[in-house]
Amino acid sequence: MLEKTQSPQAQRFNAYDRPHDDLREFIARAERAGEIVRIAGADWKLEMGTLAEIVNHARPEPPAILFEEVPGYPKGMRLLSGATNSSKRLAIALGLPVPRNPLDVVRAYRDRMKIHRPIPPKTVAKGPVFENIDRDGEVDVLKFPVPFLHEHDGGRYVGTDDLVIMRDPEADWVNGGTYRVMVQDKTHVSLWISPGKHGRQIREKYFRAGKPCPVLISCGHDPLLFLAGGNELKFGLCEYDYAGGHRGEPCEIVLSELHGLPMPAHAEIVLEGEMVENVTAKEGPFGEFTGYYASSPSHQPLVEVKRVYYRNDPILGIASPMRPPSDFSFSKCVMKAGMIWTRWNARDCPASPACGCTNSAARACSTSSPSSRPIPAMRARPGCWQPAASRVPISGGSSSWSTRMSIRPTCST
Ligand SMILES: Cc1cc2nc3c(=O)[nH]c(=O)nc-3n(C[C@H](O)[C@H](O)[C@H](O)COP(=O)(O)O)c2cc1C
Repeated sequence: MLEKTQSPQAQRFNAYDRPHDDLREFIARAERAGEIVRIAGADWKLEMGTLAEIVNHARPEPPAILFEEVPGYPKGMRLLSGATNSSKRLAIALGLPVPRNPLDVVRAYRDRMKIHRPIPPKTVAKGPVFENIDRDGEVDVLKFPVPFLHEHDGGRYVGTDDLVIMRDPEADWVNGGTYRVMVQDKTHVSLWISPGKHGRQIREKYFRAGKPCPVLISCGHDPLLFLAGGNELKFGLCEYDYAGGHRGEPCEIVLSELHGLPMPAHAEIVLEGEMVENVTAKEGPFGEFTGYYASSPSHQPLVEVKRVYYRNDPILGIASPMRPPSDFSFSKCVMKAGMIWTRWNARDCPASPACGCTNSAARACSTSSPSSRPIPAMRARPGCWQPAASRVPISGGSSSWSTRMSIRPTCST
Protein backbone atom coordinates (compact mmCIF):
# COMPACT_ATOMS: atom_id res chain seq x y z
CA MET A 1 0.00 0.00 0.00
CA LEU A 2 1.21 3.50 -0.76
CA GLU A 3 2.44 5.22 2.32
CA LYS A 4 1.80 8.90 3.05
CA THR A 5 4.30 11.43 1.78
CA GLN A 6 6.85 11.98 4.51
CA SER A 7 8.08 15.22 5.96
CA PRO A 8 11.32 16.50 4.33
CA GLN A 9 13.27 15.23 7.34
CA ALA A 10 11.99 11.71 6.81
CA GLN A 11 12.64 11.72 3.07
CA ARG A 12 15.30 9.25 2.18
CA PHE A 13 14.18 8.12 -1.23
CA ASN A 14 12.48 10.79 -3.35
CA ALA A 15 9.39 11.86 -1.34
CA TYR A 16 9.42 8.65 0.70
CA ASP A 17 11.17 7.11 3.65
CA ARG A 18 12.14 3.96 1.75
CA PRO A 19 12.66 2.75 -1.82
CA HIS A 20 9.71 1.34 -3.75
CA ASP A 21 9.49 -2.43 -3.56
CA ASP A 22 8.68 -3.07 -7.18
CA LEU A 23 7.21 -1.78 -10.44
CA ARG A 24 3.74 -1.66 -8.91
CA GLU A 25 4.76 0.59 -6.08
CA PHE A 26 6.71 2.73 -8.55
CA ILE A 27 3.54 3.10 -10.64
CA ALA A 28 1.53 4.04 -7.55
CA ARG A 29 4.07 6.72 -6.62
CA ALA A 30 4.24 8.03 -10.20
CA GLU A 31 0.46 8.11 -10.43
CA ARG A 32 0.31 10.05 -7.20
CA ALA A 33 2.62 12.60 -8.78
CA GLY A 34 0.27 12.90 -11.78
CA GLU A 35 2.74 11.11 -14.04
CA ILE A 36 0.68 8.22 -15.45
CA VAL A 37 -1.94 8.17 -18.18
CA ARG A 38 -4.07 5.04 -18.43
CA ILE A 39 -5.21 3.85 -21.86
CA ALA A 40 -7.71 1.02 -22.02
CA GLY A 41 -8.44 -1.12 -25.07
CA ALA A 42 -5.35 -0.46 -27.21
CA ASP A 43 -4.43 -3.36 -29.45
CA TRP A 44 -0.97 -4.97 -29.18
CA LYS A 45 -0.65 -4.70 -32.96
CA LEU A 46 0.68 -1.21 -33.81
CA GLU A 47 -1.78 0.70 -31.62
CA MET A 48 0.44 0.73 -28.52
CA GLY A 49 3.50 1.75 -30.55
CA THR A 50 1.59 4.54 -32.27
CA LEU A 51 -0.02 5.82 -29.06
CA ALA A 52 3.36 5.78 -27.31
CA GLU A 53 4.74 7.95 -30.11
CA ILE A 54 1.85 10.41 -29.98
CA VAL A 55 2.06 10.78 -26.18
CA ASN A 56 5.85 11.03 -26.12
CA HIS A 57 5.90 13.70 -28.81
CA ALA A 58 3.08 15.77 -27.35
CA ARG A 59 5.23 17.59 -24.79
CA PRO A 60 8.77 17.56 -23.41
CA GLU A 61 8.09 15.61 -20.20
CA PRO A 62 5.33 13.21 -21.18
CA PRO A 63 3.51 10.89 -18.78
CA ALA A 64 4.12 7.15 -18.71
CA ILE A 65 1.37 5.10 -20.33
CA LEU A 66 -0.28 2.21 -18.56
CA PHE A 67 -2.04 0.11 -21.21
CA GLU A 68 -4.93 -1.81 -19.73
CA GLU A 69 -7.63 -4.18 -20.96
CA VAL A 70 -5.77 -5.29 -24.05
CA PRO A 71 -8.23 -6.93 -26.47
CA GLY A 72 -7.86 -10.71 -26.50
CA TYR A 73 -5.95 -10.89 -23.21
CA PRO A 74 -6.99 -11.32 -19.58
CA LYS A 75 -8.12 -8.03 -18.09
CA GLY A 76 -5.43 -7.87 -15.41
CA MET A 77 -2.50 -7.99 -17.85
CA ARG A 78 -1.06 -4.53 -18.44
CA LEU A 79 1.91 -2.84 -20.10
CA LEU A 80 3.87 0.23 -19.05
CA SER A 81 5.62 2.45 -21.60
CA GLY A 82 8.04 5.23 -20.70
CA ALA A 83 8.52 4.49 -17.00
CA THR A 84 11.49 6.85 -16.58
CA ASN A 85 10.80 9.40 -19.30
CA SER A 86 10.41 12.53 -17.16
CA SER A 87 12.28 14.36 -14.39
CA LYS A 88 9.80 13.37 -11.72
CA ARG A 89 9.63 9.69 -12.66
CA LEU A 90 13.37 9.43 -13.10
CA ALA A 91 13.82 10.92 -9.64
CA ILE A 92 11.27 8.47 -8.22
CA ALA A 93 13.11 5.54 -9.83
CA LEU A 94 16.52 6.64 -8.55
CA GLY A 95 15.33 7.96 -5.22
CA LEU A 96 16.58 11.47 -5.94
CA PRO A 97 14.98 14.56 -4.38
CA VAL A 98 11.74 15.72 -6.03
CA PRO A 99 13.04 17.89 -8.92
CA ARG A 100 11.84 21.25 -10.22
CA ASN A 101 13.44 20.78 -13.63
CA PRO A 102 15.59 18.28 -15.57
CA LEU A 103 18.85 19.87 -14.48
CA ASP A 104 17.97 19.15 -10.84
CA VAL A 105 18.01 15.46 -11.72
CA VAL A 106 21.36 15.69 -13.52
CA ARG A 107 22.88 17.50 -10.54
CA ALA A 108 21.34 15.07 -8.06
CA TYR A 109 22.56 12.11 -10.10
CA ARG A 110 26.07 13.54 -10.21
CA ASP A 111 25.99 14.18 -6.45
CA ARG A 112 24.69 10.66 -5.86
CA MET A 113 27.51 9.15 -7.88
CA LYS A 114 30.07 10.88 -5.66
CA ILE A 115 28.92 8.73 -2.76
CA HIS A 116 27.42 5.76 -4.61
CA ARG A 117 28.77 2.37 -3.51
CA PRO A 118 27.51 -0.87 -5.06
CA ILE A 119 25.45 -3.04 -2.71
CA PRO A 120 25.23 -6.75 -3.60
CA PRO A 121 21.73 -8.24 -3.86
CA LYS A 122 20.11 -10.32 -1.17
CA THR A 123 18.95 -13.82 -2.09
CA VAL A 124 15.53 -14.68 -0.69
CA ALA A 125 13.70 -18.00 -0.87
CA LYS A 126 10.43 -16.68 -2.25
CA GLY A 127 9.20 -13.74 -4.26
CA PRO A 128 6.06 -12.64 -6.10
CA VAL A 129 7.67 -13.63 -9.42
CA PHE A 130 7.16 -17.26 -8.36
CA GLU A 131 3.37 -16.82 -8.15
CA ASN A 132 3.14 -18.66 -11.48
CA ILE A 133 5.66 -20.94 -13.18
CA ASP A 134 5.07 -22.42 -16.63
CA ARG A 135 7.40 -25.32 -17.34
CA ASP A 136 8.46 -26.95 -20.61
CA GLY A 137 5.30 -27.88 -22.54
CA GLU A 138 3.27 -25.22 -20.70
CA VAL A 139 5.47 -22.41 -21.99
CA ASP A 140 3.80 -19.85 -24.25
CA VAL A 141 5.39 -16.41 -24.30
CA LEU A 142 2.47 -15.11 -26.36
CA LYS A 143 0.10 -15.62 -23.45
CA PHE A 144 1.22 -12.06 -22.62
CA PRO A 145 0.12 -9.08 -24.76
CA VAL A 146 3.51 -8.68 -26.44
CA PRO A 147 3.42 -5.57 -28.65
CA PHE A 148 4.16 -5.27 -32.36
CA LEU A 149 5.49 -1.74 -32.28
CA HIS A 150 6.29 -0.54 -35.84
CA GLU A 151 4.77 -1.59 -39.13
CA HIS A 152 7.94 -3.09 -40.67
CA ASP A 153 9.20 -4.83 -37.52
CA GLY A 154 10.23 -8.43 -37.96
CA GLY A 155 7.99 -9.57 -35.12
CA ARG A 156 6.59 -8.89 -31.68
CA TYR A 157 9.18 -7.70 -29.18
CA VAL A 158 8.76 -9.05 -25.65
CA GLY A 159 12.07 -7.54 -24.55
CA THR A 160 12.61 -3.80 -24.97
CA ASP A 161 12.52 -2.55 -21.38
CA ASP A 162 14.24 -5.74 -20.28
CA LEU A 163 17.13 -7.07 -18.25
CA VAL A 164 19.00 -9.95 -19.87
CA ILE A 165 20.84 -11.80 -17.14
CA MET A 166 23.86 -14.08 -17.70
CA ARG A 167 26.63 -15.40 -15.49
CA ASP A 168 30.24 -15.05 -16.62
CA PRO A 169 31.49 -18.65 -16.65
CA GLU A 170 35.06 -17.56 -15.91
CA ALA A 171 34.51 -15.03 -13.17
CA ASP A 172 31.29 -16.02 -11.41
CA TRP A 173 29.98 -12.55 -12.06
CA VAL A 174 26.44 -11.80 -13.22
CA ASN A 175 25.69 -9.20 -15.89
CA GLY A 176 22.34 -7.63 -16.71
CA GLY A 177 21.87 -5.75 -19.97
CA THR A 178 18.99 -4.30 -21.96
CA TYR A 179 19.00 -6.02 -25.35
CA ARG A 180 16.06 -6.39 -27.69
CA VAL A 181 14.21 -9.71 -27.66
CA MET A 182 11.91 -10.82 -30.48
CA VAL A 183 9.35 -13.60 -30.21
CA GLN A 184 9.87 -16.36 -32.80
CA ASP A 185 7.14 -18.70 -31.59
CA LYS A 186 5.58 -19.57 -28.27
CA THR A 187 8.73 -21.29 -26.93
CA HIS A 188 11.49 -19.39 -28.72
CA VAL A 189 12.78 -15.83 -28.69
CA SER A 190 15.86 -14.33 -30.34
CA LEU A 191 18.29 -11.89 -28.83
CA TRP A 192 20.13 -9.06 -30.58
CA ILE A 193 23.28 -8.04 -28.71
CA SER A 194 25.79 -5.74 -30.39
CA PRO A 195 29.43 -6.80 -30.57
CA GLY A 196 31.41 -5.81 -27.50
CA LYS A 197 28.47 -5.62 -25.10
CA HIS A 198 29.07 -7.48 -21.85
CA GLY A 199 26.30 -9.97 -22.53
CA ARG A 200 27.82 -10.78 -25.90
CA GLN A 201 31.27 -11.28 -24.39
CA ILE A 202 29.81 -13.62 -21.79
CA ARG A 203 27.81 -15.57 -24.37
CA GLU A 204 30.94 -16.03 -26.49
CA LYS A 205 32.79 -17.51 -23.52
CA TYR A 206 30.18 -20.28 -23.26
CA PHE A 207 30.25 -20.90 -27.01
CA ARG A 208 34.04 -21.02 -27.09
CA ALA A 209 33.90 -23.67 -24.36
CA GLY A 210 31.33 -25.61 -26.43
CA LYS A 211 28.62 -25.07 -23.83
CA PRO A 212 25.07 -23.71 -24.04
CA CYS A 213 24.67 -20.24 -22.59
CA PRO A 214 22.01 -20.03 -19.82
CA VAL A 215 20.01 -16.82 -19.77
CA LEU A 216 17.17 -15.08 -17.95
CA ILE A 217 15.14 -12.32 -19.58
CA SER A 218 13.21 -10.13 -17.15
CA CYS A 219 10.50 -8.24 -19.02
CA GLY A 220 8.90 -6.10 -16.32
CA HIS A 221 10.60 -4.89 -13.15
CA ASP A 222 11.60 -1.94 -11.02
CA PRO A 223 12.56 0.81 -13.55
CA LEU A 224 15.79 1.25 -11.62
CA LEU A 225 16.89 -2.09 -13.09
CA PHE A 226 16.11 -0.80 -16.58
CA LEU A 227 18.32 2.22 -15.88
CA ALA A 228 21.07 -0.13 -14.71
CA GLY A 229 20.66 -2.50 -17.67
CA GLY A 230 20.39 0.15 -20.36
CA ASN A 231 23.36 2.26 -19.39
CA GLU A 232 27.02 1.42 -19.78
CA LEU A 233 28.36 0.29 -16.41
CA LYS A 234 31.92 -0.94 -16.15
CA PHE A 235 32.68 -4.59 -16.92
CA GLY A 236 32.44 -6.66 -13.75
CA LEU A 237 29.96 -4.38 -11.99
CA CYS A 238 26.71 -6.28 -11.56
CA GLU A 239 23.60 -4.26 -12.37
CA TYR A 240 21.93 -5.49 -9.17
CA ASP A 241 24.82 -4.07 -7.14
CA TYR A 242 24.60 -0.74 -8.97
CA ALA A 243 20.83 -0.58 -8.38
CA GLY A 244 21.31 -1.54 -4.72
CA GLY A 245 23.75 1.35 -4.37
CA HIS A 246 21.00 3.74 -5.45
CA ARG A 247 18.41 2.14 -3.21
CA GLY A 248 20.74 2.22 -0.24
CA GLU A 249 19.74 -1.36 0.41
CA PRO A 250 20.07 -4.64 -1.50
CA CYS A 251 17.78 -5.65 -4.34
CA GLU A 252 16.01 -8.89 -3.50
CA ILE A 253 16.66 -11.77 -5.87
CA VAL A 254 15.44 -15.35 -6.20
CA LEU A 255 17.24 -18.12 -8.05
CA SER A 256 15.86 -19.69 -11.20
CA GLU A 257 14.89 -23.35 -11.22
CA LEU A 258 17.10 -24.58 -14.05
CA HIS A 259 20.33 -22.62 -13.85
CA GLY A 260 20.27 -20.93 -10.46
CA LEU A 261 20.48 -17.53 -12.14
CA PRO A 262 19.36 -14.54 -10.06
CA MET A 263 16.13 -12.80 -11.05
CA PRO A 264 14.46 -9.85 -9.33
CA ALA A 265 12.20 -11.36 -6.67
CA HIS A 266 9.56 -8.75 -7.51
CA ALA A 267 9.85 -9.02 -11.30
CA GLU A 268 6.67 -9.24 -13.34
CA ILE A 269 7.68 -11.73 -16.05
CA VAL A 270 10.96 -13.64 -16.42
CA LEU A 271 11.87 -16.12 -19.18
CA GLU A 272 14.55 -18.75 -18.61
CA GLY A 273 16.31 -20.66 -21.33
CA GLU A 274 19.53 -21.36 -23.14
CA MET A 275 21.31 -20.31 -26.30
CA VAL A 276 23.35 -22.81 -28.28
CA GLU A 277 26.09 -21.84 -30.70
CA ASN A 278 24.95 -21.78 -34.34
CA VAL A 279 21.29 -22.23 -33.42
CA THR A 280 19.89 -19.01 -34.79
CA ALA A 281 16.78 -17.50 -36.32
CA LYS A 282 16.00 -14.48 -38.49
CA GLU A 283 15.73 -11.43 -36.25
CA GLY A 284 14.54 -7.92 -37.11
CA PRO A 285 14.28 -5.49 -38.60
CA PHE A 286 13.26 -3.34 -35.66
CA GLY A 287 12.44 0.35 -35.66
CA GLU A 288 15.30 1.69 -33.56
CA PHE A 289 15.94 4.79 -31.43
CA THR A 290 17.64 6.42 -34.41
CA GLY A 291 14.21 6.81 -35.96
CA TYR A 292 14.66 4.25 -38.71
CA TYR A 293 15.14 0.55 -39.27
CA ALA A 294 18.80 0.67 -38.43
CA SER A 295 19.76 -2.73 -39.83
CA SER A 296 18.48 -5.46 -42.10
CA PRO A 297 17.22 -8.74 -40.68
CA SER A 298 20.03 -11.06 -39.62
CA HIS A 299 20.38 -14.44 -37.98
CA GLN A 300 20.75 -14.13 -34.23
CA PRO A 301 21.00 -16.67 -31.42
CA LEU A 302 17.78 -18.35 -30.45
CA VAL A 303 16.72 -18.85 -26.84
CA GLU A 304 14.70 -21.95 -26.16
CA VAL A 305 12.42 -20.87 -23.32
CA LYS A 306 11.94 -23.64 -20.77
CA ARG A 307 10.50 -21.71 -17.84
CA VAL A 308 8.30 -18.64 -17.55
CA TYR A 309 7.98 -17.10 -14.08
CA TYR A 310 5.33 -14.42 -13.64
CA ARG A 311 3.22 -12.59 -11.12
CA ASN A 312 -0.53 -12.60 -11.05
CA ASP A 313 -1.79 -9.89 -13.43
CA PRO A 314 1.70 -9.25 -14.80
CA ILE A 315 2.83 -5.90 -16.20
CA LEU A 316 5.08 -6.01 -19.26
CA GLY A 317 7.53 -3.11 -19.59
CA ILE A 318 7.92 -1.35 -22.94
CA ALA A 319 10.76 0.90 -24.04
CA SER A 320 9.52 1.80 -27.49
CA PRO A 321 12.06 3.26 -29.89
CA MET A 322 10.58 5.70 -32.38
CA ARG A 323 11.50 8.81 -34.27
CA PRO A 324 13.32 10.66 -31.52
CA PRO A 325 12.52 11.32 -28.78
CA SER A 326 11.61 7.79 -27.75
CA ASP A 327 9.83 6.84 -24.56
CA PHE A 328 13.18 6.29 -22.82
CA SER A 329 15.24 9.15 -24.35
CA PHE A 330 14.80 11.42 -21.37
CA SER A 331 16.34 9.07 -18.82
CA LYS A 332 19.07 8.05 -21.21
CA CYS A 333 20.13 11.64 -21.78
CA VAL A 334 19.94 12.69 -18.14
CA MET A 335 21.93 9.65 -17.01
CA LYS A 336 24.51 10.25 -19.72
CA ALA A 337 24.79 13.94 -18.87
CA GLY A 338 25.29 13.01 -15.20
CA MET A 339 27.88 10.36 -16.08
CA ILE A 340 29.79 12.73 -18.38
CA TRP A 341 29.73 15.46 -15.77
CA THR A 342 31.06 13.05 -13.15
CA ARG A 343 33.82 11.84 -15.46
CA TRP A 344 34.71 15.36 -16.47
CA ASN A 345 35.16 16.36 -12.88
CA ALA A 346 37.14 13.21 -12.11
CA ARG A 347 39.68 14.37 -14.71
CA ASP A 348 40.28 17.36 -12.49
CA CYS A 349 39.91 19.62 -15.48
CA PRO A 350 39.73 23.35 -14.70
CA ALA A 351 37.30 23.96 -17.53
CA SER A 352 33.83 25.30 -17.10
CA PRO A 353 32.22 23.13 -19.73
CA ALA A 354 28.70 22.99 -20.99
CA CYS A 355 27.15 19.54 -20.75
CA GLY A 356 24.99 19.44 -23.82
CA CYS A 357 22.50 16.70 -24.30
CA THR A 358 19.51 16.33 -26.53
CA ASN A 359 16.49 14.26 -25.97
CA SER A 360 16.59 13.10 -29.55
CA ALA A 361 20.13 11.82 -29.48
CA ALA A 362 21.15 10.93 -25.99
CA ARG A 363 24.46 9.61 -27.18
CA ALA A 364 25.53 12.77 -28.89
CA CYS A 365 26.74 14.42 -25.73
CA SER A 366 29.71 16.69 -25.72
CA THR A 367 31.53 18.99 -23.43
CA SER A 368 33.62 21.99 -24.31
CA SER A 369 37.15 22.71 -23.24
CA PRO A 370 38.26 26.18 -22.14
CA SER A 371 39.39 26.81 -25.70
CA SER A 372 35.83 26.12 -26.76
CA ARG A 373 36.96 23.27 -28.96
CA PRO A 374 34.33 20.58 -28.68
CA ILE A 375 35.60 17.33 -27.20
CA PRO A 376 33.39 14.35 -27.81
CA ALA A 377 32.78 12.78 -24.44
CA MET A 378 31.04 9.83 -26.02
CA ARG A 379 31.50 8.96 -29.62
CA ALA A 380 28.66 10.83 -31.27
CA ARG A 381 26.77 8.96 -33.93
CA PRO A 382 25.84 11.41 -36.67
CA GLY A 383 23.14 9.06 -37.87
CA CYS A 384 21.18 9.82 -34.72
CA TRP A 385 20.37 13.27 -35.86
CA GLN A 386 18.34 12.53 -38.90
CA PRO A 387 17.44 9.55 -41.02
CA ALA A 388 19.98 8.64 -43.64
CA ALA A 389 18.41 8.83 -47.07
CA SER A 390 18.86 5.11 -47.62
CA ARG A 391 17.17 4.13 -44.37
CA VAL A 392 13.47 3.53 -43.93
CA PRO A 393 12.04 5.92 -41.35
CA ILE A 394 9.67 4.43 -38.81
CA SER A 395 6.14 5.47 -39.63
CA GLY A 396 3.24 6.24 -37.33
CA GLY A 397 2.39 8.97 -34.86
CA SER A 398 3.11 12.66 -35.10
CA SER A 399 6.85 12.82 -35.03
CA SER A 400 8.91 15.90 -34.60
CA TRP A 401 12.58 15.68 -35.38
CA SER A 402 13.23 18.99 -33.75
CA THR A 403 11.91 18.12 -30.29
CA ARG A 404 14.94 18.35 -28.09
CA MET A 405 15.75 18.92 -24.52
CA SER A 406 18.84 20.93 -23.91
CA ILE A 407 20.72 20.91 -20.64
CA ARG A 408 23.38 23.56 -20.47
CA PRO A 409 24.61 23.90 -16.96
CA THR A 410 27.66 25.76 -15.92
CA CYS A 411 29.55 22.88 -14.39
CA SER A 412 31.15 23.26 -11.06
CA THR A 413 32.53 20.53 -8.88
C1 LIG B 1 15.77 0.90 -24.57
C2 LIG B 1 17.12 0.36 -24.85
C3 LIG B 1 17.25 -0.67 -25.77
C4 LIG B 1 18.50 -1.20 -26.07
N1 LIG B 1 18.60 -2.22 -26.97
C5 LIG B 1 19.79 -2.79 -27.20
C6 LIG B 1 19.89 -3.94 -28.06
O1 LIG B 1 18.92 -4.42 -28.62
N2 LIG B 1 21.12 -4.50 -28.23
C7 LIG B 1 22.23 -3.98 -27.65
O2 LIG B 1 23.32 -4.52 -27.83
N3 LIG B 1 22.17 -2.89 -26.83
C8 LIG B 1 20.99 -2.30 -26.59
N4 LIG B 1 20.88 -1.21 -25.76
C9 LIG B 1 22.10 -0.65 -25.17
C10 LIG B 1 22.55 -1.47 -23.99
O3 LIG B 1 21.48 -1.77 -23.15
C11 LIG B 1 23.60 -0.73 -23.18
O4 LIG B 1 24.70 -0.46 -23.99
C12 LIG B 1 24.00 -1.48 -21.95
O5 LIG B 1 25.03 -0.80 -21.29
C13 LIG B 1 24.45 -2.88 -22.29
O6 LIG B 1 24.77 -3.59 -21.13
P1 LIG B 1 26.23 -4.18 -20.95
O7 LIG B 1 27.13 -2.96 -20.86
O8 LIG B 1 26.15 -4.94 -19.68
O9 LIG B 1 26.53 -5.01 -22.14
C14 LIG B 1 19.65 -0.68 -25.43
C15 LIG B 1 19.52 0.35 -24.50
C16 LIG B 1 18.26 0.86 -24.20
C17 LIG B 1 18.14 1.95 -23.18
